[in-house]
Amino acid sequence: MKLASGHEAAILEGEERERMNKDWEGFFKGLVRLTPGRWLLPAPYLNFGDKYYSFQFKPSDVVVMTYSKSGTTWMQEIVWTMRNNPNLDHPMTNTHIFARSPFLEFDMITACSETPPPLDHPMVQAFFKMCPGKSPLDGAQLQMAEVLPEPRTIKSHLPFSLLTPELLDTAKVVGVIRNPKDVIVSFHHHCRLIAGQKYVGTFEDFVTYFVEDDLIYGPYWLYLKEMWEKREHPNLLIVFYEDLKADVMKELKRLNEFMGTGLTEAQLGNVQRHTSFGEMKAREKTLIGEDLFNQDVFKKDGGFFRKGQSGDWKGKLTPELEAKVDHYVQQKLSDLGIPFKFS
Ligand code: A3P
Repeated sequence: MKLASGHEAAILEGEERERMNKDWEGFFKGLVRLTPGRWLLPAPYLNFGDKYYSFQFKPSDVVVMTYSKSGTTWMQEIVWTMRNNPNLDHPMTNTHIFARSPFLEFDMITACSETPPPLDHPMVQAFFKMCPGKSPLDGAQLQMAEVLPEPRTIKSHLPFSLLTPELLDTAKVVGVIRNPKDVIVSFHHHCRLIAGQKYVGTFEDFVTYFVEDDLIYGPYWLYLKEMWEKREHPNLLIVFYEDLKADVMKELKRLNEFMGTGLTEAQLGNVQRHTSFGEMKAREKTLIGEDLFNQDVFKKDGGFFRKGQSGDWKGKLTPELEAKVDHYVQQKLSDLGIPFKFS
């Protein structure tokens, strides 16, 4: 199947499919591989992919783009708060994040699950309010993103090549990069936690999936390459997760300048406090919800806001696994010169 982006899409079959079926109990609708790039996505991407590619961005949009588990939600809340809520008095302060800042391709993720989000889910309620007469099956987050009043803050994990080529010349993009070792640890927890993925394989195999570019939204290296090569574009600001952790105020000031938000020191202080790990974790139930989680993993190993640290991989990757990731970085990413920070 040929897509509007020019990619050829093929549903995973045979041995690859069997291996995935064994380790991923949630992807019961299958996965799709796009060529060129070997992008791997849940099969419901095929229902929406052309719409994602032709999504019309506006000059006032800020798009938060990251590979999965790089601190997207943190940045999304920072950007939304800076633009809409610097005094922390917005009526939607304590609402589900996707009710005010859509996740462009979230519909392909929820479509993986055996049970769609319930009708009383705040995200679904927001959809019915914003898109009367429309069906969530045609993409609830997608349609919300279309009608959301300006200024829109939109999140996506899709790479540049699966979004309109006009994106950077139209809107501002904030990209977040996180070192691959912490991404792996965080993604492993996430894939076990999310019911629509339900990873049941070992951690060792998960690392293999990563270095063989067999995790959804990957290849990680290609995602980063596409972004890093555009780093001089005036509409792109790249922030490292580790820099946010080390000195969040410094990065908020960079964002303030990039987005032209003109916030005062006191307002930036509000943003810093409101988006701290502790405060976001305390708001987890309203901000993210718990209904799309595997409850056993959630109870045993925690929810979406897991640790929020840099360097947590150190207790988790054995020397053998670390060497595997180092080899991957050396092979696939060293020529780009991305200054990864591993602690
Ligand atoms: P950990 O699993 O290492 O804790 P994403 O939003 O891209 O899915 O990324 C999720 C990761 O960002 C998780 O990492 C999560 O805990 C972390 N995170 C979310 N909010 C954060 C915050 N306010 N400060 C620091 N880390 C945060």
